[in-house]
Amino acid sequence: MGKFYISTPIYYVNDNPHLGHAYCTIVADFFARYHRLLGDETFFLTGTDEHGQKVQKSAEREGITPKELADRVFVRYRDLWNKLDISNNDFIRTTEERHKKGVIAILKKMVEKGDIFKDAYEGPYCVSCESFFPEKDVVDGKCPDFGHPVTILREESYFFKLSKYTEPLLKFYNEHPDFVLPESRMNEVKTFVQMGLKDLSITRSSINWGIPFPEDEKHVLYVWLDALSNYITALGYGSEDDSLFKKFWPCDLHLIGKDILRFHAIYWPAFLMSAQIPLPKHILGHGWWMKDQNKMSKSLGNIVNPNPLVDEFSSDVLRYFLLREKPIGSDGSFSDEAFIDRLNADLANDLGNLTSRILALLEQQFEGKIFEGDGSLKESAFKQYDEYHKAMENFSPKESLETVWAFISSLNKFLVLREPWAKPKSESSKNTLSEVARALRMVALQIAPAMPRSAGTIINSLGFKPSIFKDFVWEEKQTTRAHRISNLFPRVDKKEYFQNLKKGEKMEEKEDDKAIETKEESKGEERVSIDHFRKIELRAGKIIEAERVPKSNKLIKMIVDFGSENRQIVAGIGKKYSPEDLIGKTCPFVFNLEPAKLMGVESNGMILAGNLDGEPILLQFLEEVPPGAKIS
Ligand code: MSP
Repeated sequence: MGKFYISTPIYYVNDNPHLGHAYCTIVADFFARYHRLLGDETFFLTGTDEHGQKVQKSAEREGITPKELADRVFVRYRDLWNKLDISNNDFIRTTEERHKKGVIAILKKMVEKGDIFKDAYEGPYCVSCESFFPEKDVVDGKCPDFGHPVTILREESYFFKLSKYTEPLLKFYNEHPDFVLPESRMNEVKTFVQMGLKDLSITRSSINWGIPFPEDEKHVLYVWLDALSNYITALGYGSEDDSLFKKFWPCDLHLIGKDILRFHAIYWPAFLMSAQIPLPKHILGHGWWMKDQNKMSKSLGNIVNPNPLVDEFSSDVLRYFLLREKPIGSDGSFSDEAFIDRLNADLANDLGNLTSRILALLEQQFEGKIFEGDGSLKESAFKQYDEYHKAMENFSPKESLETVWAFISSLNKFLVLREPWAKPKSESSKNTLSEVARALRMVALQIAPAMPRSAGTIINSLGFKPSIFKDFVWEEKQTTRAHRISNLFPRVDKKEYFQNLKKGEKMEEKEDDKAIETKEESKGEERVSIDHFRKIELRAGKIIEAERVPKSNKLIKMIVDFGSENRQIVAGIGKKYSPEDLIGKTCPFVFNLEPAKLMGVESNGMILAGNLDGEPILLQFLEEVPPGAKIS
């Protein structure tokens, strides 16, 4: 029996999980499940990256501690993974003691090797943000976060002798040409390293949210040294019990997005070389999911939330779509239309129809019994089975599923050709149905890594017990009789689906129109008495959370801190502002408005805004006011 260790990146807790994050974790789960089915002892790790400037700044904006922010967001990742049937063996959080201990153990080894030295770090510094920014992020001499002016500053820092590892890394890449996958990315990395590496600053004294540098605690460790170490600290490296580390390290596959390739393919192996720890076997950089031509991001407001898709269509459907729709190394664009098309064509039509048809025929004609068959499908089934495994060895989910679907399509054709419904209960029908049922069992096993629930249902409905690749035999005997089920993947009426989506948008427009009508009515110069006005309670509120209302491009749902309480308020300002623009802002609100629902989401108050040709312009105070302050 072999062993297989696979990891996902650990996700920053300054952001809620979106479809891009879900993709990476689903692909890792797909490989982990595949290896379990091969009979490999498998360890699958995921987790959250909870230290560093990004998290500290987000927490500051919300007026909470970084740990409070991490505790809140980590749950969203954990819950989404449960919902998506992710079968991780561990979930590491970098704020856990076990992780911190392990990081210190790695650092100690790097110090012992003579690779850490103290010097000064010089770079663009923003006084308002109290932080350094990489040269490349500075735009026109301004910091990327708030556009404050930056100055060049020197700060004391500890450095890692990364330059020393230029040659050893190049030698390693040459000896392991498939270290980084796909090949084009390996070349990118090599070219970068060939230009020569600079020593790397590995501590920061401008922030305090991180693991303190031992014996010089005004410095905290650079978040990437902290984060990358998770891959071994989770296995108990540097602890009393490092049996998992001994068993599973080196990692077989670090699955990551292409944007974090350099950290994994250059820094991480160099850190490991320094600490004299073996290097991982493969790093696979996948492409991005885009929406409207851009990589999904909070600030662009083009995030696809996987939760409603799972609620409406099931985790298997979303998993299948993401794995099948785009080659792993390329970018792909998410659209509702492509999603529904895939569901209808591949799942409802091809697999769903085949399954319900064969089960119904077996039940009708042979009381659910599957016989030996005449072997007419066995050879083509094993041919496809080999192609599937080859694609899996090449880490190609899309290609592996394509081989299965080509086979499903040939099974549907085989049924049409043999017409087992024409001569019910005949010898020929018996052979046809038994052959297709056996082939379908093989299909179910192969789709199990992608769609564990549906695969289980198919195998169970055919009356077989679950098996794994290692023990698979075509001739397996049923343990119970096959029984019919309704289509596993009901067909979606595309027209109706998009009408409903439109309805959602229309409802939103109506809400807007209502607001405009009220404004029009009030144009009639009707004056109100001061007593009347006093009835309206206006207060300052600090926006601590903001996200878009699903299926709406105007509405933003905010959590607003009013000192004594936090309230949920929905506002139609999403065309002008992104949720990120709002977090941390203190604005005036109508506090005693009756609660109302906007697109089904409760709103308990109203933000005040200027109106410039129909465009909302938010108002702010000239001086700082505490949340909840009355406005009169
Ligand atoms: N915390 C670091 C990783 C440290 S690993 C030691 C980080 N976190 S992240 O939350 O910003 O990104 C996590 C992963 O999600 C990355 O691999 C990134 O490529 C992936 N994705 C983020 N947006 C994505 C898409 N739109 N599409 C696909 N994956 C993308 O980086």
